[in-house]
Amino acid sequence: MLIKTRDDGFVHPFPSEITPAGVYQQRRELLRLMAGGAAGAVLAGWAARDARASQVPRPGKLAALSGRVSPVAGASTDEKLTDYQDASGYNNFYEFGMDKGDPARNAHTLPTSPWTVSVEGLVKKPGNYTLEDLLKLAPMEERIYRLRCVEGWSMVIPWVGYSVAELIKKVEPLGNAKYVEFVTLADKKTMPYVSSRVLLWPYTEGLRMDEAMHPLSLLAFGMYGEVLPKQNGAPLRLVVPWKYGFKSGKSLVKIRFVEKQPATAWNIAAPQEYGFYSNVNPNVAHPRWSQATERRIGEDGLFAKKRKTLMFNGYEAQVGQLYAGMDLKKYY
Ligand code: MTE
Repeated sequence: MLIKTRDDGFVHPFPSEITPAGVYQQRRELLRLMAGGAAGAVLAGWAARDARASQVPRPGKLAALSGRVSPVAGASTDEKLTDYQDASGYNNFYEFGMDKGDPARNAHTLPTSPWTVSVEGLVKKPGNYTLEDLLKLAPMEERIYRLRCVEGWSMVIPWVGYSVAELIKKVEPLGNAKYVEFVTLADKKTMPYVSSRVLLWPYTEGLRMDEAMHPLSLLAFGMYGEVLPKQNGAPLRLVVPWKYGFKSGKSLVKIRFVEKQPATAWNIAAPQEYGFYSNVNPNVAHPRWSQATERRIGEDGLFAKKRKTLMFNGYEAQVGQLYAGMDLKKYY
């Protein structure tokens, strides 16, 4: 995986794709105040401001998709949200190019409807699930996750979706299903870099069954209260917050239940650099750089201090027991 700095790669997304993150953040703040019964006097002011904001035309606004506050432990954080412009303008989606601004520039060619995900392998109920089926499968939740990229930057994004476990329970895996393989779209017609040899396409990822079943493993359909922008993996993607970002495959088309540990795109490309587990771990350096600190996107002024990277990206209390007794230097 290449390291790119903002100076090399960052290009602002098209104005039509920008959702005013401020408006979103204000709504959340209001909801929080109301939940605590403290809205009182500020309510009128907020409401007026909100009404004004909703009258501002937002060309290119994506369809709304909201979720209830997630009941899952660890699924939220009070950390400042990354600006929508950065979350949707500074991306890795190699099917659309290798610069951070390429996905926002190029992914408009991705057709996201109709969309089908095929569920295959060691399950009682294999089959093709349409996006409409999947949207109805479980109640949507909002999850505010830190996502840390192996390149050393991180973001805080409010996703909308539900636990992958909801789907897994519905399709009833067989006893010998030990891993789940996630296969993403590889369409030469609409994805310009699928003709290149940057990676072995389709981009695939995998989780051990207990990782996939962990309630924090998310099937995301939206972010910031709207459906996913294409550059972020529309119409559905994985988000695994305690692992490096590349485990979170975008634009999923196939979910396969298998007995043996599946090959994954980055592990095939550079096995000594990217392992199957890829848990965020400040104590295990990438062969070419340290993983001890990270740069939070949006905090990258000249004097901004890097943050210390946390074990399992700060989700150790929730997921640490999945790896009890494992040598995490060996299983990186
Ligand atoms: N999924 C596909 N299909 N193709 C990709 O190139 N890149 C991965 C992951 N999922 C990638 C992908 C990497 S390296 C990261 S860091 C995250 O997506 C980035 O997600 P974001 O752009 O929404 O922040």
